[in-house]
Amino acid sequence: METTLIILKPDAVQRGLMGKIITRFEEKGLAIVGMKMMTISQDLASTHYKDHQGKPFYDGLVGFMTSSPVVVMAVRGVGAITIARSMMGATFGSKADAGTIRGDFGVSNSFNLIHGSDSPVAAERELGLFFNDGEVQDLDRAIESWVYDMSSGDPE
Ligand code: RTP
Ligand code: MG
Repeated sequence: METTLIILKPDAVQRGLMGKIITRFEEKGLAIVGMKMMTISQDLASTHYKDHQGKPFYDGLVGFMTSSPVVVMAVRGVGAITIARSMMGATFGSKADAGTIRGDFGVSNSFNLIHGSDSPVAAERELGLFFNDGEVQDLDRAIESWVYDMSSGDPE
């Protein structure tokens, strides 16, 4: 099982799209094991997006991410990092395929509704930045054996 950090960015919250986006993850069968609303500080935004420091869009990105509250979620499942990234779609709303979150709900390039960790290393780092000890749950889902084929002993 992998856990990934998802952020519903300020535009998703302001546009009233939280529920629709959260529903997509729930309907897919991924488990939401942590969730809170928060306002991201300048420091946290720069640490989170440190790999983009120096890029032309960096200042705008930090400004955007700190401009209004977000919802952060820890989302768990087999292959959750890759699955979440494919559900999100390409970075720019103008280019993202229909059927993806960015493709269905946005047209902007910078205001692209959602963040998802892009690797296991990034997921571990980012979950540690946004969630304190105890805020990510050990969720024992009653439906687990209907979401996954457990006949081999492992979820498939
Ligand atoms: P994210 O990190 O937020 O999940 O997005 P991503 O992996 O799809 O894209 P990334 O290259 O990591 O860029 C981070 C965020 O910066 C904004 N951006 N704007 N206007 C631009 O050229 C531009 N390029 C990137 C987007 O908000 C993007 O999600
Ligand atoms: Mg990224």
